[in-house]
Amino acid sequence: MKDILDASALDVEARRILEMNDRGGYSVPTAGLYPYQWNWDSAFAALGYAMFDLARGWKELEVLMAGQWDDGMVPHIQFHKVDPSYFPGPDIWGGVGPVPSSGISQPPIAATMARLIYELDPEAGATPMRALYPSFVAWHRWFMDWRLDSGAVCLTHPWEAGRDNAPDWDGSLARIDPVGIDPYERRDTGHVDPSMRPRKSDYDRYLWLVKQGHDCGWDQARLLEINPFRMADPTMHFTLLRAHRDLAWLGRELGLDTASLPDWIAQLEAGAETLWNAALGAYDVRDTASGAWAQAVSNAAFLCWYACVDPKDSLATYARVQAPVRFGVASHDPESPAFEPKRYWRGPSWAMMNMLIAMGFDEAGLPEGAALRDSTARLIAENGFAEYFDPLTGAPAGGRDFTWTAAVWLAWCSPNVGRGRWAR
Ligand code: GLC
Repeated sequence: MKDILDASALDVEARRILEMNDRGGYSVPTAGLYPYQWNWDSAFAALGYAMFDLARGWKELEVLMAGQWDDGMVPHIQFHKVDPSYFPGPDIWGGVGPVPSSGISQPPIAATMARLIYELDPEAGATPMRALYPSFVAWHRWFMDWRLDSGAVCLTHPWEAGRDNAPDWDGSLARIDPVGIDPYERRDTGHVDPSMRPRKSDYDRYLWLVKQGHDCGWDQARLLEINPFRMADPTMHFTLLRAHRDLAWLGRELGLDTASLPDWIAQLEAGAETLWNAALGAYDVRDTASGAWAQAVSNAAFLCWYACVDPKDSLATYARVQAPVRFGVASHDPESPAFEPKRYWRGPSWAMMNMLIAMGFDEAGLPEGAALRDSTARLIAENGFAEYFDPLTGAPAGGRDFTWTAAVWLAWCSPNVGRGRWAR
């Protein structure tokens, strides 16, 4: 890795990016490509801000949770100010919450980030955390009520996992005939190289699924009946299980009502078994309609340590898929024919996924955590604060000046990290 002087310059640059992407109480992932507030991006951003401005970190989470719907769902995008540079916007989604929004959620990492921020300064964190706590419980309950299949947490749209075009969805999306969607014009391919973005055939299906939800007013009971795309997914499962544990910890710490959490944790611990694909040697996506496995080793499979579930053979599989990888964790198995090192979730390395995976390794006492932090730090030091990176060459890809990459640098990668869990 570059020396400590460079690291200080990178700290300054990371902070500059977080400040530049601050829209006043909430952040955007990057201007142009993603001009709104995204759910899990915002949770990482909160931790990043908290490294230099604790109050701003809490504010980010407060604005995120203020977009919660009556049923408890916290949407994956909140459209605070309409911006024509992004499609599909609020009219296509027709979200029914207090803020114009999408109609699906995203991996619930916010309670986990809230715990990390709280641990930076428990005294300062007590008041904001007490206020946020009921909204986290309600969101987690929404998943438990609407998104379980044999105890495994499901998604209803590829964007819900935050792994938009992962090969994990290919087989199940192919069964959808995207009839009835209106003609549309993509905006993402105007911002970045189309060879790094999802294909049109995927996009048609993304929009068809949005239309289903929109047309029934995002009624979850109705969607359970009509939506053919319900995937039990390690991303949703492991992030929710981890978030339940962190929320229970916060609740106990603050003397709040944690009554529901032990049972939810137990349900997901049991449900994790139904995501274990023994033939693959990894936790895998399961199509709940057909029962078919995706047969895809993704980076989400390696969140099992983060969720504190039995990793079974995951470490051997990690060593296998990581053998050719030089920077972070590949989002898809490099030996698979579907692997594409620059196309979004079909291979690239994502700094924030690396951080979550490494948290689990560290807590399990595995040396892979420190190695992953070093390789992610090198990736950013040498290639900048890109949205994601080629895992073989480290080449930056997608959007630039990216909020979560800056946040992950400040909170986890920087050798100067002086506070919190990773203090050295
Ligand atoms: C893409 C990513 C998703 C992220 C969003 C904003 O859709 O796949 O994980 O939340 O961009 O950065």
